[in-house]
Amino acid sequence: MKNNIVLGIDIGGSGIKGALVDVKTGKLVSKRIRIETPQPAYPDSVADTVDILVKEFAYEGAIIGCGFPAIIADGVARSAANIDDSWVGVDVEELLSQKTNKEVYVLNDADSAGVAEMNFGVMKNIMGVSILLTLGTGIGSALFVNGQLVPNTEFGHLYLKEQKRIVEKYASNLIRKRKELSYEEWISRINKLLKHLGNIFSPSLIALGGGISKKFDEYEKHIKDFDFVVKPAALLNHAGLVGAAMYATKKRNILISQDN
Ligand code: BGC
Repeated sequence: MKNNIVLGIDIGGSGIKGALVDVKTGKLVSKRIRIETPQPAYPDSVADTVDILVKEFAYEGAIIGCGFPAIIADGVARSAANIDDSWVGVDVEELLSQKTNKEVYVLNDADSAGVAEMNFGVMKNIMGVSILLTLGTGIGSALFVNGQLVPNTEFGHLYLKEQKRIVEKYASNLIRKRKELSYEEWISRINKLLKHLGNIFSPSLIALGGGISKKFDEYEKHIKDFDFVVKPAALLNHAGLVGAAMYATKKRNILISQDN
């Protein structure tokens, strides 16, 4: 297998997705396979499912990139907002590497989507500060400064004083569905987050990702006028897989150059 083809995996609360990615073009070169996340989603059972997914691809490459919905520092999970608490402190890289017999490199799921958008999508060539927000079950975030990722920003966990809640419990896509909010009502909540991020970071661009980015045309009119551009993410469902594969390639190259 060519070494620009890398298996990208995206672990989520309901599904674990994978595809082979050409890291030079950011394109998927296989079909995308999705397996239900086992419930309860304990580390061992999730790792077994990842191994099943890897076997489905008969993947012969050495490295795998994996997006994971938690703070990830040096491969270790440091939070558990929408996943089982037993993940906190687990070395996810080590666990998945042992189960799959591959070198697995792990980063936060929103960060991996951001890496893809920065290289091939809507954030490409954006200098200054740009932010991707992933609007799904939770709210994930990826912050870039002159194209460089600042990992684990977790803007979905910003506390809204007036609402007495963190923003993901107030404005995620899950909350929109649960509370049956109209786009106008929902975007008025998202506007609060955008305004706040605008005040702190003076970004050039904030991109909105997650499945709901497909509907951007329908809610764009409710987004306030800010000093920065607000755009839908470009790579939709694939961003997480593509970014994870790219991250694995980059991290491995850094490790190799450190060894030499
Ligand atoms: C988690 C983040 C994650 C986001 C999207 C949040 O609840 O804290 O780490 O990126 O959900 O999955």
